[in-house]
Amino acid sequence: MNEILRRAQDEQDRISEIIRSDELKSQERPKFHFASPCGWINDPNGFSFYKGECHLFAQNHPYSTQWGPMHWAHAVSKDMISWEVRSIALAPDTAADLKGCFSGTALEKDGIHLIAYTGVHEKDGITVQEQCIARGDGEAYVKSPANPVITAADIPFEYETTDFRDPKIWFSGGMYYLAAVLKKTGGKGALVLFRSADAEKWDFVSVLDESRDGLSGMWECPDVFSLDKKDVIILSPQEMKANDALGFHDGNNSVYITGMLDLDSGTFVRDTRVENGYTAAEIDYGIDFYAPETALTPDGRRVMIGWMQSWESYITPENYLWSGMMTLPRELRIRNGRLFQTPVREFNAHRDREIAGRILPENEKFRIYDFSVRHFDVEFEFKVKDSETGRFTAWIAENDSYSVRVDYEPAEKRLTFDRSRTLGGGGKISSRSVTVAPGADGILKLRFICDTCSLEIFANDGETAFSNAFFVPADATGFSVCQGLSNDVKYKFFTLR
Ligand code: FRU
Repeated sequence: MNEILRRAQDEQDRISEIIRSDELKSQERPKFHFASPCGWINDPNGFSFYKGECHLFAQNHPYSTQWGPMHWAHAVSKDMISWEVRSIALAPDTAADLKGCFSGTALEKDGIHLIAYTGVHEKDGITVQEQCIARGDGEAYVKSPANPVITAADIPFEYETTDFRDPKIWFSGGMYYLAAVLKKTGGKGALVLFRSADAEKWDFVSVLDESRDGLSGMWECPDVFSLDKKDVIILSPQEMKANDALGFHDGNNSVYITGMLDLDSGTFVRDTRVENGYTAAEIDYGIDFYAPETALTPDGRRVMIGWMQSWESYITPENYLWSGMMTLPRELRIRNGRLFQTPVREFNAHRDREIAGRILPENEKFRIYDFSVRHFDVEFEFKVKDSETGRFTAWIAENDSYSVRVDYEPAEKRLTFDRSRTLGGGGKISSRSVTVAPGADGILKLRFICDTCSLEIFANDGETAFSNAFFVPADATGFSVCQGLSNDVKYKFFTLR
C-alpha cells in the first residue's frame, strides 16, 4: 500500500471508529442502506458480483464531508442490504489519476475483478479525463501500467478533453466493450463506444447516441444493458431544463432510454415512447437520486443502485462525519416499455412485526405504530375517485419541531414530499412533487421505506420511484397518518430488523 492510499485508509479507520464508539453518531446512520463510512461519497461505482458476492464501490473523499480528490471506497455484501466495508480500493496515486479516480464500473472475468474508471490528471497545463483499468481479487486492486488506456488520441474527432468519463465495461461475444460519455465541442453530451480483445488496447467503434429530446449538456454515468427483450441505456445528464409534463427537473437528472443496440455496427436506435412521443424518461422523481449503475445478479436479475443525494441541494448536517448514501438496490423490469423498480427481494427478510389496518376518512390524525420508529416499510392501498377533493397525508420522523410530510392529492394526481420542517429547512430544494395516477381500477398503491434519514416511495408496484433524504434529530420518531378521501386507506406496516 503506498503512502496516499495508506493515509486515506488511516482516515477511514479513524472516522469509522469514532462513529462506532458513539451511540448517537451510530444511530444517525441508515441501517439498511449503504452509507459513506467516512467523509463524502457520491456515485456508486463498480456495482458487480465477484465470486458470488456483491461488490459496491463509491466515489469517496475521506478527508471531509464535501467533494474532493476522488478515491474509491469499497464494500461487500451477501444480500445487497448489509454491507461490510473493505479497504479503500483506489486512490489518486498514479500519473494517470493524480487529480482523482472518477466513476466507473467493474466486471468479473476469468477470476479477475476488472475495473474501468476515469483517471483525471494534468496534461499540458489542462486537466483532462481519460479511461483507466485496474484488476483485483475482491480485496486489493492493481492499476494497469498502461493507464490511461483510452486517451484523446483514440477519439477521431475533437471534443472537450476535460469532460470524458464514467466508463461502463462489459464482455460480449468474445470481446470487451466500453461505453463512456464526453462533451462534444459546443457542449452537447455523447456516448462513445470502444472495443478491445484484452481490455488494455482499445479501438474506437462509434458514437452510440448524443444529446437530443431535451437531454442537453454533459452526460454522466452511462449504463448499457439488455432487459426483457429491450436494450436499455441509462444516463445522468447535467444542465437539463425542467419539463413538468415529462417529469424532468432543472439540473442533474437520471434517465433511461429503451431501444435496439447493434454492437457490430455500433448503433443504438431509440424507441419512441407511446405515452408522449418522447424517447427518454426519468428514472426516479425524487430530490435525491443520481448516477445509478446496474449489476446482473448470479440468478439473472438486473439490479440498480443510485446515489441518494442531490448535487443541487446539500443537506448533510454540519456535525456529521459522513455524507452520502445509496438507494436500496432495486430489481428492474421493463413492462409496456416502462421501467419498473422494486427493492431487491432480499430486503423483505428484514420485515419484522406486521400491523395491518384501515385509515378511515373520519379518523383524526393518528399513529399507526405507537412507538418511536425511524425504520419501517409500509404499504398503502386505496381506491380514489376523480371527484375527490381531500388528500392523504403521512408525517414521518415527527416531533414537536420536526417532520417530513408526504401528501397525495387525487384531484391533481400529485404525490408530494416536503422536508421543509427538517434540519436546515431541508436545503435549497425542500419539496418535490410527482404525478402518480391510480391504475385503471382506480386503485393507488404506495410503498414507503424509511431508514433513519431517507424515504423511498414506490408507487403502483414500482412503476414510479421517488427517493428523498432528510435529516432530523434522533428523537424525531413519530409516524402518523390521516386522510380525507371517500374510501378507506388500507395499510400493512412492518417494523424492520
Ligand atoms: C457524477 C460525477 C461523474 C464523475 C464523478 C466525480 O456525479 O460528476 O461524472 O465521474 O461524479 O466524482
